[in-house]
Order: sequence, then C-alpha cells, then structure tokens
Amino acid sequence: MNYKIAVVAGDGIGPEVMEQNINVLNAVGEKFGHTFEYTYVLGGGCAIDKYGEPLPQETIDVCKASDSVLLGAVGGWQWDTLPGDKRPERALLGLRGALGLYANLRPATLHDALKDACPLKPELVADGVDIMVVRELTGGMYFGEKGRKQTDMGEAAYDVEQYAVKEVERIARTAFEIARKRNKHVTNVDKQNVLESSRLWRSVVLEVAKDYPDVELDHLYVDNASMQLIMRPATFDVIVTGNIFGDILSDEASQMTGSIGMLPSASLGEGTLGMYEPVHGSAPDIAGKDIANPIATILSGAMMLKYSFGLLEEAKCIEDAVTKVLNKGYRTGDIMSEGMTQVGCKKMGKLVIENL
Ligand code: IPM
Ligand code: MG
Repeated sequence: MNYKIAVVAGDGIGPEVMEQNINVLNAVGEKFGHTFEYTYVLGGGCAIDKYGEPLPQETIDVCKASDSVLLGAVGGWQWDTLPGDKRPERALLGLRGALGLYANLRPATLHDALKDACPLKPELVADGVDIMVVRELTGGMYFGEKGRKQTDMGEAAYDVEQYAVKEVERIARTAFEIARKRNKHVTNVDKQNVLESSRLWRSVVLEVAKDYPDVELDHLYVDNASMQLIMRPATFDVIVTGNIFGDILSDEASQMTGSIGMLPSASLGEGTLGMYEPVHGSAPDIAGKDIANPIATILSGAMMLKYSFGLLEEAKCIEDAVTKVLNKGYRTGDIMSEGMTQVGCKKMGKLVIENL
C-alpha cells in the first residue's frame, strides 16, 4: 500500500526526532512492502519566520489532503513575546481544530527496563503502569470565547470553559470503546463539585455509560485524580477528561514512564485521518545537539500505523523494537541510569531500526 503523510516537523528538537521517526517508518515500509510518501510543510515558529504566521493555509490544505499527519514540536523563546493568536502553538491548536481531531490518546506505559527512571517508589510501580489518557482536544477553555474587559479590579482576561452534550458524548464513546479493548475500566475526571460545565460533562458520561455495561466506570475530581495518579498509578486503565485537565494530567502521567520523552500521542476525529505527535515540547535548550530522545516520536509513528492505517503488525514491530533496545540497556540522557549505555538521538533511531 501507498500512504500520503504530511510532515510538520516544527521547531527545536522537532526536526531531529522526526528524522529518526521517518527513518524507522521507511525501514518498516521496506520490511512489509508499503511506501510512505511525505510532504513537508511548515507550522509553528519556522512558519512565522518564513510567512509571518504560524499556520499557513497551505499547511492546512496539505494535511487535509493526506492520509495522516506527523508533527514534531512547535515553539521556542524567539516567539514567546508574540500575541496569543500569532504564537507557534496556534499551529497545533489550529490543526487540531481544522482537522476536527477531538480525541487525543496519550498512552503512558512504563517499560520494565525503565523502572529505575520512574521517579515513584519501586513498590508503587511494581505491578507496572499502563494508562491511556483520553483527552478531549477541540473544546473547553482552549477553544471557548476569550478576551479582555475592564472590571473594578482593573483589566481582566477570560477564557470560557464550555462543553456541549455532543462534544462530551463522542469523547466518552471513544474512551469506552478503547476501554473495551483494554482492561474495561474508565475513570472520568472532572470538577463537578464546582463547575457547571463539569456537571453537564458528568451527566453525559453517565448516560453514555449505559451502552457499556461491561465497562467499569468511576469518577474523580481533578485535584484528587492528580493525587491518586501518583499514589496508585497501577490501578488506572483509561482516564477520560476535558481539554485543560487532560493537558495537565497527561504531563503527570508521562513521568510514570520515566520521561516525557517516552510518551507518544494520537489525535483522532471521525475519519481515519489523524495527527501523531510526541507529548513533549520543542526543548529549544537541547535542540541541534543530538541528545533528544526520539522514542516518543517513533512510538507516535507506530500509533499512526495502527490507528490511521490499520497496520497492527507493523505498529507492533516498532513497539517491540523499542522494547528490545531498552532491554539491551541503551538510553538517551533523559532516561539514563547507572550501568546503561548512553546514546544520542541518531544512534537511538539506528538501534530501533536494527531491532525491527
Ligand atoms: C500539549 C501541549 C499543547 C497543549 C500546547 C503546546 C499548545 O502542551 O500538546 O499537551 O496545551 O495542548
Ligand atoms: Mg501539554
């Protein structure tokens, strides 16, 4: 098969981790007889420098016309003082919105080989950690009305947290469907003791749950969830939550895996078109030094094969190769521990290919 992939490598370490991802995908393509055709487009800071805007229309058009989108990372200190709608992050948010990618899957899995790199006490992660954060991605305060106004306390700014029934319904369904293929347990995270938007959210989740009597459902307030996550990480299966809570909890969950450099993500909508990116940012401080961890991006490539192209065996081949490399003791700096062999970004990519 032939697949058309739009590549938004972005800024900072984005291009270098993406290069390794593409090398791995090409090697898998060769092994299984697929061709991947890449179209490179600009998004983020590099697009601001070239076109004066973070998300040129051409980038949106190419992404829409592709079978899937790979994204590296966007942002950097050069663009930090630009107004909100001109910042590199707009590229990410704009693509999520324009492509209708409302479901963000962030699987936090702790590899046995990385137990030392996990900051939690060994007994807390002895049973392993395997959590799927299902984050709503095109609603909530990220996409609600925002603005400034005068108040008697001076100038004020606001970002409206709003969720509609249909938005909650579809993300809840995504979570329950995923749970069915895993350990059949969904934890809904909201703040319904305070927020009206959370009260609607929870009532819709309860309604959708009626269609999934085989899946266990429980609920946590977001503050409590952040605490439970580090107290009993092994007891979570699927977490479903809104955009802002999901942003925060997925960074917390990333630490269960040893490093945010290990966490891939998939952003999906109604069709098979998806966007695949590491959860980490552009890390401008280490960009160009060949020390970044490419595994989150490589695992995002595996998620693309699985969720957009239905190539399950090929995806597993990449995941297994990553596990083998880690079992053999190779580590990038972020997951380095005593007695292991430290390698750079390029070498890590090569090792994954050798172990496919
Ligand atoms: C993420 C990031 C983005 C978000 C930023 C860069 C806009 O933190 O993907 O988690 O908040 O969604
Ligand atoms: Mg985030």
